[in-house]
Amino acid sequence: MQTVLWVKALHIIFMVTWMAAIFYLPRLYVYHVQAITENDAKGDARFKIMERKLFWGIMTPGAVLTIVFGVWLWLGYGITGKWMMWKLLLVLTLLAHHIACFIHLRAFRDGHNTRSEKYFRIMNELPVFALFGIVFLVVLKPN
Ligand code: HEM
Repeated sequence: MQTVLWVKALHIIFMVTWMAAIFYLPRLYVYHVQAITENDAKGDARFKIMERKLFWGIMTPGAVLTIVFGVWLWLGYGITGKWMMWKLLLVLTLLAHHIACFIHLRAFRDGHNTRSEKYFRIMNELPVFALFGIVFLVVLKPN
């Protein structure tokens, strides 16, 4: 079996884990704001644990390994084209979203969150556009 196919399979597996966490963490932030608004101290403490484990246990390893196997495919096997440049631009928006999630993780951890439920609901939807764009670009490879 060609190694490139193993690398691509691992790239897709870790992309799925990254995306799963990217869509779940802001949703936790929505409910965390509700718990804080309702002075639910137990809920607040529980969300802090869930968010920390999701960010460091799934989201960040998923991001790192998606990029490692993606760059291996791109630079290791020379799979590229104009579509790759647009894809990388969209990947940068996912990385910006990832860093924003980290900043909010710390704010909740320290009890300093100032963002509203609505803000996190909108933040939750944005990566959908990058995901659609990336998958269409890499599968259709438009020139
Ligand atoms: C630095 C980041 C990334 C790089 C360098 C990269 C690079 C690549 C390359 C070179 C391929 C092989 C294309 C082919 O064989 O036709 C590939 C496949 C793929 N990539 Fe990425 N990728 C990255 C991030 C992502 C992300 C964030 C996603 C999704 C959100 C993604 C989704 C996919 C999918 C679905 C495939 C399989 C396409 C197919 O088999 O036709 N990639 N990637």
